[in-house]
Amino acid sequence: MAELWCEMVVAIMGMIVLSFGRSGIAGKTSTFVRSEWPSLDIPPDNQAFAIPKGRNAPQQVHITQGDYDGKAVIISWVTTEEAGQIEVKYGTLENQYAFSAKGVVTTYTFYNYTSGYIHHCLVDGLEYDTKYYYKIGMDGSAREFWFHTPPKIDPDASYTFGIIGDLGQTYNSLSTLEHYIHSGGQTVLFVGDLSYADRYEYDDVGIRWDSWGRFIERSAAYQPWIWSAGNHEIEYMPNMGEVSPFKSYLHRFATPHVASNSTSPLWYAVRRASAHIIVLSSYSPFVKYTPQWRWLQEELRRVNRKKTPWLIILMHVPLYSSNLAHYMEGESMRAVYEDWFVHSKVDFIFAGHVHAYERSYRISNIYYNVSSGDCCPVPDTSAPVYMTVGDGGNQEGLAGRFWDPQPDYSAFREASYGHSTLEIRNRTHAFYHWNRNDNGKKVAIDSVVFHNQYWASNLQRRRLKKRNS
Ligand SMILES: *[C@@H]1O[C@H](CO)[C@@H](O)[C@H](O)[C@H]1NC(C)=O
Ligand SMILES: *[C@@H]1O[C@H](CO)[C@@H](O)[C@H](O)[C@H]1NC(C)=O
Ligand SMILES: *[C@@H]1O[C@H](CO)[C@@H](O)[C@H](O)[C@H]1NC(C)=O
Ligand SMILES: *[C@@H]1O[C@H](CO)[C@@H](O)[C@H](O)[C@H]1NC(C)=O
Ligand SMILES: [Fe+2]
Repeated sequence: MAELWCEMVVAIMGMIVLSFGRSGIAGKTSTFVRSEWPSLDIPPDNQAFAIPKGRNAPQQVHITQGDYDGKAVIISWVTTEEAGQIEVKYGTLENQYAFSAKGVVTTYTFYNYTSGYIHHCLVDGLEYDTKYYYKIGMDGSAREFWFHTPPKIDPDASYTFGIIGDLGQTYNSLSTLEHYIHSGGQTVLFVGDLSYADRYEYDDVGIRWDSWGRFIERSAAYQPWIWSAGNHEIEYMPNMGEVSPFKSYLHRFATPHVASNSTSPLWYAVRRASAHIIVLSSYSPFVKYTPQWRWLQEELRRVNRKKTPWLIILMHVPLYSSNLAHYMEGESMRAVYEDWFVHSKVDFIFAGHVHAYERSYRISNIYYNVSSGDCCPVPDTSAPVYMTVGDGGNQEGLAGRFWDPQPDYSAFREASYGHSTLEIRNRTHAFYHWNRNDNGKKVAIDSVVFHNQYWASNLQRRRLKKRNS
C-alpha cells in the first residue's frame, strides 16, 4: 500500500514539476569520472608537509572566525620543542606590529604519541574589511602571515565562500587545495572529515594530524576555515585505549562556539558579511530536547534575514544523497530538523561524507507521518538546496555508484574530485560553482545562479502587490 502511494506521489510530482523547473526536473548524472591520482596518502617526508626551518618554529598555522560577527579570529599553531612565545603580534602594516594578544597552550596524548604545544590565540576588536599582518614565534624562527577581515554585517555585502569536504592528504587532496587557493574564495566552509589520520594506527594517528596541519597551512593560515566535524574526527579506538570522542579534533581546532551561546565546540554559528552560517554535528545527540536541538531552535530564532539574507547550514552527513555510499545515513537527522529548515527558508545545506558531488532541487519531505504514508520528497520552493561536496580527495577514493534511475530530487551528480565556490553578490543573487579537478586544471562543471530564499521571494511578492494595486 505504501509503495502504491509512493508511486502516485511520484506521478503527481512529475506533473507539478513540468510547470515548476525552468529547465525541467530531469536531473543530470554526469558519467564523467576523473580520478587523477591513486587514492594514497602523500608520504610524510614529502615537500607538501614541509616542516618550517628554525628551532621550535611555529607550524600547522590556521585561523578561524573568533566571534559572532567577524571582528575576531582565533589563530592556532603548534611548536614542538617548547611552548615558547604564546603571543601573537599583529597590525595593519607589514613588519610593524602595533598590537599583541596572549593565547593559551595545550597538549594531549593519543596512545604513545604526545602532541606538540598547541597554541590558540583569540585576536579580537579588529576593524572590518582590513588586511592584518601577524607574527608568531621567536627570533630567527618567527613566521609572518596575513589575513583579511570580512566586510561588516550588511545585507548587500559581497563575499565568496569555498566549500571543501572529506579532504584527507593525498595528491588528489593537494590538487583540490591548490585549485581552491586560486578560486578567489575568502573563507572555507569545511564540511567535516579533515585529515583521515584515523586510518592509521598507534603513534601514526597523531603524526598524520601533524602532517595535515602543515598541509592546509598554505590556505588556512591566510583565511578562516569554518570547521565542522565528521566521522573521521570521532577516533573511538578502544584497541589503543582511546575512547574519548573527537580528542584530536577538539585539541587542535578551536571554534567560537561560546559567541553563539553554544555549550559545545561541535555546533555553533557565525555571521560573516551577508551570511549566517550554522554548523551542526552529525555525530552528537541531536534529537528533541538534547543540547544541540535546543541550541539550534534558539539560533534559528536569532537569524535576521534583513541583516544576513543568506542562511547556510553545514553538517557532515547529507540529508539528501542518491549515492549508494552511506545511503540514507542522514535520515535520522532529516526526520528531526527538515521541518525547521524548510520553515526557516534555509538557502543551502552543505554536507560531505559521500565522496562525490551532488546538488538537489528544492524539495522537501516534511509531510510524512508514520500513519499517513506520504513518503516521497515533493517540490517545495521554501526548501533548501542540498549539496554534497565530499569530494576533497581523501585516501578512501571516490563513491562512484549512484542510485539508478536518478531520483527526482537529484539535480546533478558526478563522482570526481573537486570543491565548490559560492560567490554572494548582494541580498538577492549568488553565483555557485562546483569545480572539478580535471587533469591539473580547475573546471567549473555545475554552475547555478541562486536567488535568495528570503529577499528574492519578498521582492517578488512586493512587485506582485504593486502590480495588483
Ligand atoms: C607504546 O608504549 C609501550 C610502553 O612504553 C610500549 O611497550 C609499546 O611497545 C609502545 N607501542 C608502540 C606501537 O610503539
Ligand atoms: C547569549 O546569551 C547571553 C545571555 O543570555 C546574551 O546576552 C547574548 O546576547 C546571547 N548571545 C547571542 C549571540 O544571542
Ligand atoms: C498523520 O496522518 C493521519 C492521516 O492523514 C492524520 O489523521 C494525522 O493527524 C497525522 N498525524 C500527525 C501528527 O500529523
Ligand atoms: C544583485 O546582483 C545581481 C547580479 O549581479 C544584479 O543583477 C542585481 O541588480 C543586484 N541587485 C541589487 C539590488 O543591486
Ligand atoms: Fe565521513
